[in-house]
Amino acid sequence: SPYAIELGAGEHWWCACGLSQTQPFCDGSHKGTGITPMKFSVDKTEKLWLCGCKASGNKPFCDGTHKKLAE
Ligand code: FES
Ligand code: FES
Repeated sequence: SPYAIELGAGEHWWCACGLSQTQPFCDGSHKGTGITPMKFSVDKTEKLWLCGCKASGNKPFCDGTHKKLAE
């Protein structure tokens, strides 16, 4: 399921591998998996829905794909 998070302006690293202990952000746990985090920037402080299922078609944002996975 997605993470609703208030993010400040600037760059953020979204965990793409699913191993991070600080979801939905990268904490370096991807080392050795061949998967790398996704850097994205935010213009202003706002609440965003970040994908937690890692299957979104619009990473790092939730696009509703997680609903299909739950079926
Ligand atoms: Fe919604 Fe991944 S959490 S698409
Ligand atoms: Fe998952 Fe870095 S910990 S991409």
